[in-house]
Amino acid sequence: MGAIGVLTAGGDCPGLNAAIRGVVTRLTAEGRTVIGIEEGWQGLMGGTTRPLTREDVRGVLGRGGTILGTSRRDPYVHGNGFESLREALERLDIETVIVIGGDGSLRTGAKLHADGLQVVGVPKTIDNDIAHTDVSLGFHTAVQIVVDAIDRLTTTAESHNRVMVVEVMGRTAGWIAVAGGMAGGAEAILVPEVEVDFGDLARRIKMRHTEGHDYSLVVVAEGTPGPSGQVVSSGIDQFGFSRIGGVCHNVASELERLTGFEARPVILGYLQRGGSPTAYDRILGTRFGVRAAEVAMGDESGVMVALRGDVIETVDLAAATAEPRNLDLERFDEAAWFFA
Ligand code: F6P
Repeated sequence: MGAIGVLTAGGDCPGLNAAIRGVVTRLTAEGRTVIGIEEGWQGLMGGTTRPLTREDVRGVLGRGGTILGTSRRDPYVHGNGFESLREALERLDIETVIVIGGDGSLRTGAKLHADGLQVVGVPKTIDNDIAHTDVSLGFHTAVQIVVDAIDRLTTTAESHNRVMVVEVMGRTAGWIAVAGGMAGGAEAILVPEVEVDFGDLARRIKMRHTEGHDYSLVVVAEGTPGPSGQVVSSGIDQFGFSRIGGVCHNVASELERLTGFEARPVILGYLQRGGSPTAYDRILGTRFGVRAAEVAMGDESGVMVALRGDVIETVDLAAATAEPRNLDLERFDEAAWFFA
């Protein structure tokens, strides 16, 4: 029996350590050797690895970030595909790699599987944009952070009679914006999946302010096109994804121009990815990790563990990473009943 490797890749999120702990605890209970691969796929491309024991994962359940480190280095972009991993895999006798990743790193896992590596995926991303699972690890905590921030920003908006434009992450999907905005009682939520009419938004805000509420809270997902119709970005990351961010500045100045009210942009940024996971994400990470370990010890490969209802299932990794999962528009419509 060979060893089983585990890595975290892509952006960090709360719950990664819970998943690593689940993987290591379940595998070592069966006497299996676990190799922790550091900094994502980079750890197998000339980077570092270390054996992981039950002792190594004690006390990490509620800790944010990842004890293995992470990166967006991709063997197909920064190396020679599967060949760049072969030496490390053979030397360490790794037969299966459990990749705890977002859509980019899971897609790399699917490619490596097609090239002959045994891979089991665990979906993690605060963006919640991975298909074939009801939810991704980290989303729940990010939404809670957004709600806490909105609650605080609302009291400042109220005190100063301002329009607060709060930008949240999500890349091309509006999941965090809709969940955070609904739970935070936002007056408007702008998402990439629904075209924004800035004139209409300004009219609604003005109306609200003449009806005795002198402040408004607008949540904008980072991937929403701004008033110019363009998504705001600054270059390309290591997976080749656009670095999105900053649209709240344009939205705030447009709303200030159209309404005459003072508007302030706030980017929540990396606060949404850091710190301790909620109970929900600790449980989800643990369940995903345990199940991924069990799958890795069995015959299945090229699969991803997924939450369907309350059950952890396995789904095809290539199918799950073929397309990002956009916001379910019914969620948006439900939130829209509460807009100004
Ligand atoms: O995919 C998670 C995410 O946090 C996105 O919401 C965001 O656009 C991106 O990662 C930012 O990543 P980086 O760490 O490269 O700045």
